[in-house]
Amino acid sequence: MKFFIDTANLDQIREANDLGVLDGVTTNPSLMAKEGIRGEENCKKHYVEICNIVDGDVSAEVIATDYEGIIKEGEELAALHPNIVVKVPCIADGIKAIKYFSQKGIRTNCTLVFSPGQALLAAKAGATYVSPFVGRLDDICSDGIQLIEKIVDMYAYYGFKTQVLAASIRHTQHIIQCIEAGADVATCPLSAIKGLLKHPLTDSGLATFLADYKKVNS
Ligand code: G3P
Repeated sequence: MKFFIDTANLDQIREANDLGVLDGVTTNPSLMAKEGIRGEENCKKHYVEICNIVDGDVSAEVIATDYEGIIKEGEELAALHPNIVVKVPCIADGIKAIKYFSQKGIRTNCTLVFSPGQALLAAKAGATYVSPFVGRLDDICSDGIQLIEKIVDMYAYYGFKTQVLAASIRHTQHIIQCIEAGADVATCPLSAIKGLLKHPLTDSGLATFLADYKKVNS
């Protein structure tokens, strides 16, 4: 299981990277806007800053929704840094563009995926990653983890190389469920990653060790 952090916040990216377990970063237009990044050139500079912090894949999302626009933006993004993965929404022109990118050797992340059918099209187009949104399905009383399971099974059955990048992860339990479902990657908030560290028996056990040591070494 690879861990990506799902943010454009450089401090959180640095903190996650310093843990030594970070494999990449995903961003999207909302996460970039949240950091107050305005304009195409500032976005590009920010993506390069992220690439200079993390030695792993960094997803940068196109804004265009037409084929020609996606191609133009995607090629510009891919040229920024070898670690850039072009993030493309799962729409008709997006699938067409992913096919073009895969033939050009440009790596892609097909995003806003909510069904096995969409995931099938992304894989057939040659997407490097597919991003099923777990949390947003759970938000409407659907089963986000079940979608991950279905996609993992489908890709294994047909031998697709596209990696399942579980997105819209809201908490630590989602990460555990994605591991059990066989996702290749989970892209998470920092809090969810740090939540994996928490266990009361670790805390109480360490306290006991230190207290016992102090009894004979004070
Ligand atoms: O990368 C997609 C992810 O950022 C969406 O998360 O919480 O807005 O559903 P969320």
